[in-house]
Parts: sequence; structure tokens; C-alpha cells
Amino acid sequence: MRRAKLGSFVMVLTAIAAGIMVCMAFAAGAADEEAAPIFGITIPPGYRDWKLISVAHEEGKLNDLRAILGNEVGIKAYRDGKLPFPEGTIIARLAWKYVASEENNKVFGRNQSFVPGPAPEWYLQFMVKDSRKYAATGGWGFAQFNKEGKPADEALHKSCFPCHEPAKARDFVFTRYAP
Ligand code: HEC
Repeated sequence: MRRAKLGSFVMVLTAIAAGIMVCMAFAAGAADEEAAPIFGITIPPGYRDWKLISVAHEEGKLNDLRAILGNEVGIKAYRDGKLPFPEGTIIARLAWKYVASEENNKVFGRNQSFVPGPAPEWYLQFMVKDSRKYAATGGWGFAQFNKEGKPADEALHKSCFPCHEPAKARDFVFTRYAP
């Protein structure tokens, strides 16, 4: 009798522990694995360590600083001057608010230093080359995520390709390699 009670107690504990582990795994995975709408792109692992293609500063409403990075295939294509970009190319665009650095400006004695501030809603964008999968959009899939890894909505993802069309002669990519 006592043994049976102990047995069922252990079983309940095991079930609770297993439940907690499943929930934790789901929460950890869901955060950075939610696919962007339309193109179904998830954040590629290791993108933050990719090589630098160039930098840019947007004024106006965006007012940000941005870095454009490429995976191995993309960087090689850029350096070889190869167009169109080969299959598997991924270009990442990171953005941060453009903010004055008080710390640096104290040293200069005037306002001249601007640095990356907090991440805006449009923190992370990707262009992924897969000519077959993305035939309708010039062979590119597009995705945008915020700092929490949450993808932007479908309407925004519809706006990507039409706006990149003017760069058709350079395979829909605006950014040139900064040597
Ligand atoms: C209003 C037009 C416009 C829209 C909409 C737009 N882009 Fe761009 N995109 C540009 C321009 C212009 C650049 C280069 C300018 C710069 O970086 O300052 C650029 C740059 C990029 C880059 C760096 C590679 C390149 O082409 O220079 C990526 C990646 C990118 N956009 C992804 C996206 C994604 C993903 C979306 C949709 C969520 C999107 N863009 C929507 C105009 C647009």
C-alpha cells in the first residue's frame, strides 16, 4: 500500500518535471524561430558573426545607423564582383537608433560623435537567395524581425520586393561593397 502510494507520487513528479522541460524547450525555440510571413524565413544562426559588406545612415523618420553583413557565399560573391548573387546568399541588415554620444562628445568638446543606440522595431532584415522558392520576387526571400526575434507583419513583407525593384540591374541589392 505505502509502496504503491510512493510509486504514484514519483510518477506525478516525473510527469510535472517532463511537462516543465517541454514548456521551457518550446519557449526557448519559439523566441528565435518564429518564421516571417510570406517567405517563411527564420533568423539564420550565427548571422551576427558574418563579415561586413558596408554601413549606412538613414535620416528622416528612420534616423538609424545600419550595418550590412553577408554570409560566406554572399561575401565571396561581393568580393569576386559576381552577379547575380549565387544560391544560398544571405544578406543581413542590422539597424540601431542614431544617437549622440555624450561620453565621446565630452572628449571632443563639441557635438560630433554619433553611435548606435537602442534597437528600433526594424532592427533586423534579411534577403535570402533561392531562385526556385522565391521565383516570383526576383529569386529573393525577404524577412524583418525586431530585437526580440518577432517577425513583422504580412503587409510589411509585401512592401519589400516592389521597393527593391529599382536595383534590378544589381540583382535587387542596393548596397555596394565598401572595400
Ligand atoms: C521604401 C523602399 C524599401 C522598402 C519598403 C524595403 N527596402 Fe530594403 N532597402 C531599400 C534601400 C534603398 C536599401 C539600401 C539603402 C540603405 O541601406 O541605406 C535597402 C537595403 C536593404 C538590405 C541590404 C541589402 C541591399 O539591398 O542594399 C536588406 C537586407 C533589405 N533592404 C531588406 C528589406 C526587407 C526584408 C524589406 C521588407 C521587410 C525591405 N528591405 C523593404 C529600400 C527598401
